[in-house]
Amino acid sequence: MKKRIAIFASGSGSNAQKIMEYFKYHDHAEVALVLSNNPDAYVLQRADNFEVPTHVFDKHEFYHTDTIVNVLDKLNIDIIVLAGFILLVPKNLLQKYPNKIINIHPALLPAYGGKGMYGDRVHQAILDAKEEESGITIHFVNEHFDEGEVIYQARFRIEPGDSIEIVKFKGQQLEHLHYPKVVENLLKKM
Ligand code: GRF
Repeated sequence: MKKRIAIFASGSGSNAQKIMEYFKYHDHAEVALVLSNNPDAYVLQRADNFEVPTHVFDKHEFYHTDTIVNVLDKLNIDIIVLAGFILLVPKNLLQKYPNKIINIHPALLPAYGGKGMYGDRVHQAILDAKEEESGITIHFVNEHFDEGEVIYQARFRIEPGDSIEIVKFKGQQLEHLHYPKVVENLLKKM
């Protein structure tokens, strides 16, 4: 029986895409579901392209019902991968999947993390601070934004004159390379 991955994403889903590609012909794991709080998220189109089922939910369902826990339970999900997912994960999900929910952040946490630190704001803050290096962090999810135990970090240099687009691109390259492998390694231990 293959291990089953659920991906939560709110936007474009380029990381979700890399994970779906990586596990498409994998012997031991598969992406079983892509979930989004945003009915217009491009990630849903990407999931369709891979013939991965999708589930769209609203905030009320997420925070005040057990619908999502039940959906995941029915599909025997082993790991939850957040990939550009903007909502805080509620307690019922954290309790049901202890140390089985992970997130990726486009900076070297604990720097440049926390509520409101997402998307271009992160890269702009890094450039404003004239950092010479940045990176990515993959971490377990807890009840606070970006505070769970770090699983993996990778770094890149920021060269003088690097634009926000360049910094973002360097980070994305690392995310796309490492996130699927980190998911695979965690699944091996489960
Ligand atoms: C990534 O940079 C990730 O670190 C952050 O949100 C972004 C999602 O990008 N959590 P995408 O939707 O996977 O392209």
